[in-house]
Amino acid sequence: MATNRTFTMLKPDAVEKGHIGAILEKISASGFKIVAMKLTQLTKADAEEFYAIHNERPFFADLVEYMTRGPIVAAILEKDNAVEDFRTLIGATNPEDAAEGTIRKLYAASISENAVHGSDSDENAAIEGAFHFSGRDTF
Ligand code: CMP
Repeated sequence: MATNRTFTMLKPDAVEKGHIGAILEKISASGFKIVAMKLTQLTKADAEEFYAIHNERPFFADLVEYMTRGPIVAAILEKDNAVEDFRTLIGATNPEDAAEGTIRKLYAASISENAVHGSDSDENAAIEGAFHFSGRDTF
């Protein structure tokens, strides 16, 4: 059964371009409640661990460099059917393929610098949320 929480990061490109407010507004207007949030910066070790599933991919080194180059916003979001609904809201990984009105269509520059992350399963939402937040940080 689908759980009601997902995990997101507003990535360095979105933060650099000043899109934090607009993206959070869209997330809230779409019915997601923020239950944990912080501005933080990943170390190289953090990014390598977070994206370990991609470590054999040709883009892995560039992904780690991109995700560590500046601050990100990490957050846990709550809504019925959160994982699936949030992936619909952010759109396809490649903004060229993303539907009109999605966060990536509006704010992402490319498949590699795609503005926002959304967990792809309930299991990964729990793992990724716990990577960034303790129970004390989560409401
Ligand atoms: P995300 O959904 O956070 O998870 C993996 C990330 O790797 C993805 O967003 C992109 O930032 C990046 N990525 C995925 N596919 C590619 C690709 N083909 N080329 C470059 N970067 C990619």
